[in-house]
Amino acid sequence: MQTYVLGIDVGTGGTRALIMGADGRVFASATEEHEAFASPQIGWAEQRPEDWWRAAGIAIRKALAKGQLRGEQISCVGFSGQMHGAVMLDERGDVVRPALIWCDVRTEKQCRELTERIGAEQLIRLTCNPALANFTVTKLLWTRENEPENWTRVRSVMLPKDYVRFRLTGEKATDVADASGTLLLDVAKREWSGEVLQAAELDRSLLPTLHESPEVCGEVSAIGAEATGLAVGTPVVAGAGDQAAGAIAMGVVAPGAVSATIGTSGVVFAATDRPALDPKGRLHTFCHAVPGRWHVMGVTQAAGLSLRWFRDQFSRAPVADGQDPYELLTAEAATAPPGADGLLWAPYLMGERTPHLDPAARAVLAGLTASHTRAHVVRAILEGVAFSLKDTFGIFAEMSVPVRNIRLGGGGARSPLWRQIQADAYGQDVEVVEADEGAAFGAAILAAVGAGMWPSVDAACDSVVRVVQCISPIAANVSVMSAAGNAYRRIYPAMKSIFAS
Ligand code: XUL
Repeated sequence: MQTYVLGIDVGTGGTRALIMGADGRVFASATEEHEAFASPQIGWAEQRPEDWWRAAGIAIRKALAKGQLRGEQISCVGFSGQMHGAVMLDERGDVVRPALIWCDVRTEKQCRELTERIGAEQLIRLTCNPALANFTVTKLLWTRENEPENWTRVRSVMLPKDYVRFRLTGEKATDVADASGTLLLDVAKREWSGEVLQAAELDRSLLPTLHESPEVCGEVSAIGAEATGLAVGTPVVAGAGDQAAGAIAMGVVAPGAVSATIGTSGVVFAATDRPALDPKGRLHTFCHAVPGRWHVMGVTQAAGLSLRWFRDQFSRAPVADGQDPYELLTAEAATAPPGADGLLWAPYLMGERTPHLDPAARAVLAGLTASHTRAHVVRAILEGVAFSLKDTFGIFAEMSVPVRNIRLGGGGARSPLWRQIQADAYGQDVEVVEADEGAAFGAAILAAVGAGMWPSVDAACDSVVRVVQCISPIAANVSVMSAAGNAYRRIYPAMKSIFAS
């Protein structure tokens, strides 16, 4: 009997189930949307974990049906998911309140207090990262402080994908890659940090068991099988947060391999063989989904979102059936020259993580003249996002993190113009892989390793991930883009005091 593995990605917009065959090719996939996240106040973002479980059941059944497979033909299941969310359960395993998800940034006060209590440098030494409002731990502290009646009922805490695992298997488990984004992990030692737990006055018994990503840590229960169509006893591997799983899907596993992914946010991700630290905390240093390896990543909050914002606000022209509005916009941008005749876009629509760590930063369109057209503006947006991602490469250089090949992912990798702009901005060749399937594919690869189809994540990526295109920078563009990039880098310092006021 031919064997298959299943990767489940519990995203923000929906849950995706992807079935991979023993040949490493995608066999079938299906997505079920989630309820939109609730934002009862500015900066708040909440989702109902029960809705993720509902969506997972539907997506898995749809994927099995599309592939005309029975649950028994799935030999292993892997997970990936949105990171940093705080799911809180009571003693019966029921959800106490909606989860505070990754983009919820209500906890600035708790970040400040935790940093003061532990000391900024000591916190980076213990967890490899500073306290950011996105990370899980301060979401727990916020709940304890503001909703004591909810907090007294909390008996366990878990990340979004781990709630779906809990419903599928009954196990409370997580992986070191996703756990890195809680700020409760000693990232260098790959174990929960007793010191941070103590300083935050949180009991270790709240936390799930920790595993390496390709490790089997449970099996589908009778209740899980009933809800999904999978077979009772199917092994389940720990999996990884969406960034580490997405990197696996692009073969970014060994030092020197780097990805630049433009989705709603933009992430530049490098695999490392040590927990490389940025003493200024501008990058996240997390465990990789490959045992014994780590990764560093820089995050641009509004990458694809910049283009989407422009489309929603300024391009109201009706789009004919079958036409992609982004293709129309990038075709228009291609009529403006590299460097957009001096027009610059700083993409801080949602504040910024890397390199500024400043939730108060705001987007800027700088250098407009009467000669500029819409095409210049769209081109400036594409270039500004690439300059923002390039900031992370600059920090990699300061930290001696090697960059040998850069693989492009996300929606930004689908536009030929945005690919070329990235090659020109980074001044380096960039590659595109065949299966641009994202984190669900990475989760399936981890499941395949757990099922013994490959002996290691490296071996699986070697045989599954294929580079289909390499784009080289165009020399004339590189010098224009380098000058524009230098001007871009002066926008934030010049504007900072205005943002703060
Ligand atoms: C990573 C991050 C996002 C979320 C949502 O730090 O915040 O990638 O995991 O997808």
